[in-house]
Amino acid sequence: MRNIASILMLWYVVSIHGATSTPFQLVPDPTDCTKFSIHMLKFKWEVSCDAGKVFSRKISNCVLQNGPYDDCSNRQQNQPSITIRAYEDVFNYCAQCPTCLYPDANNCAGFYNCSKILVPVYSRFRQFEDECVYPALFDADALRCERDYKKVEGNCGGRPLLLYPCDQKRFKCVVAHCRPCEVTYPNCAGKSDGFHEWEDPNISPYFTRCQDGRTIKAERCDPSGNGTPSLFSCPKPMCRCRL
Ligand SMILES: *[C@@H]1O[C@H](CO)[C@@H](O)[C@H](O)[C@H]1NC(C)=O
Repeated sequence: MRNIASILMLWYVVSIHGATSTPFQLVPDPTDCTKFSIHMLKFKWEVSCDAGKVFSRKISNCVLQNGPYDDCSNRQQNQPSITIRAYEDVFNYCAQCPTCLYPDANNCAGFYNCSKILVPVYSRFRQFEDECVYPALFDADALRCERDYKKVEGNCGGRPLLLYPCDQKRFKCVVAHCRPCEVTYPNCAGKSDGFHEWEDPNISPYFTRCQDGRTIKAERCDPSGNGTPSLFSCPKPMCRCRL
């Protein structure tokens, strides 16, 4: 590993001095995350990372397996870093890699799962299509849904962030007589964090909780014991009986 280290150091020095085409190339092994090879001119060295480490394509170095920089273990063999822009393309990509996951270029929460072949009849999703459960986002590096959207939202890389639940596929109507999403979920865009009345506060039992422009909660006050409607009131958010 010692001469590898000096090669790497030399490569690093060459690259930081702005050589446009470095003579070295570190190439991940297409099937084994713990291996990579160093290509220089006509020569090629196969190298293994130390135990417990895998080669990161992004960082071009060995990193802790399953650590924050591990972009190999979850990623299927030799999967290119691509996002799918048009639905039709997914068939081609999934044919090449039947177990891959691909981020949806049109939605930071969306992804395509090539293993998902069966689709229920009344599904909102077409074959391979999927979406993280709101408000989770799909982490394109780790290739999984991340519930803590703050960790991913700065890293959507041009994949639009759809804050309103009704803009997501999961909430679209697929049957004729379905309650429109907009009736169920108020839009929190531009609203401050916390509880809000929804519709006319004097007559509405509906309320919502907004967080970071997202509709975290959309609920209705339960009727009070004797059946009188209970209404939501702000600024002190609570359900009250209206007499
Ligand atoms: C992809 O689909 C397979 C098969 O339905 C499922 O087991 C797996 O959990 C899915 N992966 C994700 C990230 O949803």
